[in-house]
Amino acid sequence: MASSSKPIILATRKLPQPVEERLSGAYEAILNPDDRQLPIDELLRIAEGVDGILCTLTDKMTPPVIAALPARVKILATFSVGYDHIDIPAAKARGLVVTNTPGALTDATAEITFLLLLGAARRAYEGETMLRSGQWTGWAPTQLMGRQLHGKRLGIAGMGRIGQAVAKRGLAFGMAIHYHGRRAVDLPTELPATFHADDADFLAHCDYLSIHMASTPETRHWLNARRVGLLPQGAIVVNTARGDLVHDEALIEGLTNGHLGAAGLDVFAGEPNIDARYLPIPNAMLLPHLGSATVQTRCAMGFRALDNLDAYFAGKAPGDKLA
Ligand code: GLV
Repeated sequence: MASSSKPIILATRKLPQPVEERLSGAYEAILNPDDRQLPIDELLRIAEGVDGILCTLTDKMTPPVIAALPARVKILATFSVGYDHIDIPAAKARGLVVTNTPGALTDATAEITFLLLLGAARRAYEGETMLRSGQWTGWAPTQLMGRQLHGKRLGIAGMGRIGQAVAKRGLAFGMAIHYHGRRAVDLPTELPATFHADDADFLAHCDYLSIHMASTPETRHWLNARRVGLLPQGAIVVNTARGDLVHDEALIEGLTNGHLGAAGLDVFAGEPNIDARYLPIPNAMLLPHLGSATVQTRCAMGFRALDNLDAYFAGKAPGDKLA
């Protein structure tokens, strides 16, 4: 393996076949066909013989892990847009190049946001449970009445690429768009949206709240008990960004005490060991972090990570360089 003139790349997880084929064609690839989550000591051992690592959000690249990476490893290309699993300052200090895959999963994430908005609003989990458990006795005028999207206010926390893709779809559903973030965004005229610099003012305008912020130490637990309390009675919360943006205690309390109407969650703090108190809540639609999980998007993410590796090993600056 070491005699190859091609750079050696470790892919920490099993990737879609077309991605592994391209990786294996351009590099000496170390694959993970069983898709086993590599314990960090094993990853570090394998890394002794590699030039770059194609990692995912399940590999926690903390400062001690980055410091322990063998000197030979020059680049970490993550198969994700989010990079909260990588300590960027530590990577910079170590001279490690880090790249992500922005853009590749925008549409898939915006689409799953609407699966959750609609599923939470229309009580999809309760309906499916009733039907599959044999409890459905037939159509009834007052059965499982939910809420509509049309004519309601959709609040977007974090109007980046994904937030804007969600806003666009919200307009098509007849929703009025409000948003909050560090600053107003220069939006195209076909995307009318009201900016609220003040979080309390923003939250008061959210019949539906959809979270699209990056997870950072500053945004951790952004949706806390105070902010849940500022949402209108019956508001619906959707999170397709990162679990730790939400304080589980506050959201669970809001869902069980009747202040919130429902929630749709694709991401959780401590995945996959999520707060078990979510599991019995009927007005919560829960998905196991599937936001980018379409064949098209998972291939696009892999190709984007490979574009970054190709650029780096060709001596050029990777397009998505974070460090
Ligand atoms: C998925 O959650 C990603 O960050 O790509």
